[in-house]
Order: sequence, then C-alpha cells, then structure tokens
Amino acid sequence: MDSSGFIGIFDSGYGGLTIFNKIRQALPLYSYLYLGDNARAPYGTRSFEVVYRFTLQAVRRLFCEGCQLVILACNTASAKALRTIQQKDLPEIAPMRRVLGVIRPTVEAIDAISRSKHVGVLGTNGTISSESYNIEIKKLFPHIITTGEACPMWVPLVENNEFASPGADYFVGKHINHILAADPLIDTLILACTHYPLLIDKIVRYLPVGITLFEQGEHVARSLVDYLRRHPEMDSRLEKQGTCRFMTTESRDKFTETASIFLNQSVEVEQITLG
Ligand code: DGL
Repeated sequence: MDSSGFIGIFDSGYGGLTIFNKIRQALPLYSYLYLGDNARAPYGTRSFEVVYRFTLQAVRRLFCEGCQLVILACNTASAKALRTIQQKDLPEIAPMRRVLGVIRPTVEAIDAISRSKHVGVLGTNGTISSESYNIEIKKLFPHIITTGEACPMWVPLVENNEFASPGADYFVGKHINHILAADPLIDTLILACTHYPLLIDKIVRYLPVGITLFEQGEHVARSLVDYLRRHPEMDSRLEKQGTCRFMTTESRDKFTETASIFLNQSVEVEQITLG
C-alpha cells in the first residue's frame, strides 16, 4: 500500500488555518498541505457557480500534489461546492479520494450545547444565503430554531490584518446586536466562518452573559479523527511524517506575515496559480 498521501486543507484565504491548527493538534503525525486562494478571497460574496469553480480548481491542484483527502476548511466552499464535488466530480476525477467539509461536524455538535434550542449562525453572505446550516440543522435536530446573520465585512477585516483595530468594533457590534435582536432566545452563536475566531476578543465584548460562542475547529478535528478510525483504507494511504507545506495564490511575503499571526510560528510558502 502506497502511504504517501497528504491531508489537504483548503480555504479561500487564511481562515482555514484556524481549522488546520486544531487538526494538527489532534493528528500531529500526519502530513499536511495547506492551500489558501488568497488572491481571489473573499469567496463569501461570490456566486455559487464561481465558488464551485474556484473550489474545484483548488481540489484538483491538491490532488495533483498528492493529497488523498481534502478538507474544505471554509464554510462558504462547504456550503456552495462540497456536495457537487462529492457527487458529480469525485467519481469522475478521483474515485478513491475524498473531500470533506466543515458544516456537518459543526451541526452534529450543536444540540448538546444549546439549552434554549435557539441557535444563531454568523457567516458570510454565501453561507447564510445558501441556508446550508438551517437545512442541516433541521435534518438532524428539527426542534432547533436557527437564525442566520451575514457579516460581510468580517472576512476583509481579518484578511487585511484589521481584526484588532478600533474600526472592527463597529462591524462586530452591529451584527451581534442585530442577530440577538432578531431572536432574543438565542443562547448559542456559531462562528460559521473559519476566519471569525480571529475576531473573538472583539465578539465577546458584545455578548450578553449566558451566550455560548461556538468555534468549529475542535469539532472538525474530532470528526476527522473519527472518520480516519472508521476508514482504515483511507488512513493507510496517508503519510505520517508530521510535515506541513503551504501554498498561496497571493504573494509569498503577505502570506508568510499573516499566516504567522494565525499559527504563532513562521512558515515557508510557495506561490501558485489556479485555473
Ligand atoms: N473562511 C471562509 C468561510 O469559512 C471565508 C470566506 C470568504 O472568503 O469570504 O466561509
């Protein structure tokens, strides 16, 4: 058996690094290849067709580089492209490889956390307008009431390193107040965008006591551990050298600088083009 495959982690930009961090903590022996399509981020305001096309290009590239398993560490790509890639593209281009998303593992954990069974979802325009969370939550937990709030400025604040600036407060406060006014019974807010953990220090300042902020990373990591246990045929194809490679479609310098904030370490990155 050829166990030379990496786990690919894909996001439109830096946000997927928050998921990568948790996955690497849970599975430190595996070998990873991270791809950020920073040059074309944000994806959140793009159409279904464009997000699907860009995501498929990224998945193909990660497969070409030797990834056996790709995690779409991006809610927008998971909402708009995952199903089509799994059902239509994979059987044609790589029937033995797999692509997984971040929405299902998040939704599976939510019922155990919310007591009021009123849950808020903070995400990009694309994730919220796709209704993916609403649909998935209804399938698993029909008793949960879901309210979505699109926060279109939050990703640009993170991508441009402005997440700690005073200007970010206005946009954070605005959306937290808006969603809590829309459903005052909400007791759990899902950060349904992998960029948002960087805004947590600001978000908590606007949260009334008793509201739980739900971060996806640990749940996605736990779900991957479980997946690999249930799929030994995939696990045996994955290299366990503990290495990490990084690729970006933007300039290497910008990625290196910003990624080091997410990862707390400096990284070597390759610049590539997609499409
Ligand atoms: N991190 C992506 C997500 O989880 C961000 C999206 C964007 O590029 O707008 O949705």
